[in-house]
Amino acid sequence: MPTPISRRPTVVVSGASAGVGRAVAQEFARHGWNVGLIARGEVGLAGTIRDVERLGGRPIAFAADVADPQAVQEVADAVARTCGGIDVWVNNAMVTVYAPVQETSPEEFRRVTEVTYLGQVHGTLAALKHMVPADRGTIVHIGSALAYRSIPLQATYCAAKAAVRGFVDSLRSELLHDHSKVRLTMVQLPAVNTPQFDWARSRLPRKLEPVPPIYQPEAIARHVFRAAHDAPRELWIGGPAWKAILGNMLIPGWIDGYLARHGYRGEMTNVRAQANRPDNLYEPVDTDPGAHGRFDSRATNHVAAADPRWLKFGIAAALGLAAGTMLFATEAHGREEGRRRRLRRD
Ligand SMILES: NC(=O)c1ccc[n+]([C@@H]2O[C@H](COP(=O)([O-])OP(=O)(O)OC[C@H]3O[C@@H](n4cnc5c(N)ncnc54)[C@H](OP(=O)(O)O)[C@@H]3O)[C@@H](O)[C@H]2O)c1
Repeated sequence: MPTPISRRPTVVVSGASAGVGRAVAQEFARHGWNVGLIARGEVGLAGTIRDVERLGGRPIAFAADVADPQAVQEVADAVARTCGGIDVWVNNAMVTVYAPVQETSPEEFRRVTEVTYLGQVHGTLAALKHMVPADRGTIVHIGSALAYRSIPLQATYCAAKAAVRGFVDSLRSELLHDHSKVRLTMVQLPAVNTPQFDWARSRLPRKLEPVPPIYQPEAIARHVFRAAHDAPRELWIGGPAWKAILGNMLIPGWIDGYLARHGYRGEMTNVRAQANRPDNLYEPVDTDPGAHGRFDSRATNHVAAADPRWLKFGIAAALGLAAGTMLFATEAHGREEGRRRRLRRD
């Protein structure tokens, strides 16, 4: 990313106080960036400020709710004023409700949509206000394999993630139409070991868990940092994300049935859920768990990722190779036939 030499590059991360957002803030700090931090909880934000300073970044923190467009715009304006612009904006904040659709209230659907979908819209609008006049900058949308393939018991969240994808695709075409140099990238994540599973609202009878295999947030953050630099159209992280996305393109009906049989069990442990535990849907659970959830013993600190464009190149190359082989075989067969005819004539 080209930046004036005298100025440190600047990133803003929403949902920066825990989980993936916390690890992303740490990763940018490791590279010496100014790191704008957005979350609601003061305690988690204070922990992230300490991390960013310790790792060599410069923190600038804001207690704000991404569902409030005005508050998000004020953050963007303050960061741009203080740091001399915004190079990267990472839309990451999320909330969810674990419950069957028929046990989820319209108000809960609205709230998840306002944070998990509209929070990304608000962040994008705020960032564009500074990036478009400067004709530079990258907006990273933290997505999920569930943006392509919804699973049971998480309709609020899956629908919001699919909406983000729809929003990003429209905006990308508009920016291309305007010949803008502002770049968008959407990163589709697999299951990650974050605190989400201990503070998301849930009506399920047993404790939550991410559908394994589970990856550490730092492994994801390294890919997010790279995506902010390279801005692939999308980056699919981890084999499970690839399988879910491609599987849904090829055999969606079979996956409906598979998830009906195995999905419920995959999202819960065997441990009974704690009754009336606090959740973060409307207010933060104002603690500082850091980036990790309770799955350290099962989480992997390395994960491969690829731009799905390579898949298309791969398929095109395989088809080209198959066509070339057939052409070669047909020509060889024709030559052989001709040789045999000549032999018969002679
Ligand atoms: N964990 C996974 O398995 C997984 C899988 C695929 C994709 N992802 C994606 O990764 C991203 C982060 O998920 P995570 O698992 O790290 O979540 P998490 O552990 O629950 O952390 C959520 C972060 O968002 C903040 N936040 C929540 N509501 C907010 C609001 N209204 N305004 C501002 N900040 C808010 C939280 O802080 P406060 O509560 O203090 O505001 C916290 O910093 C999400 O986009 C999610 O879709 C995660």
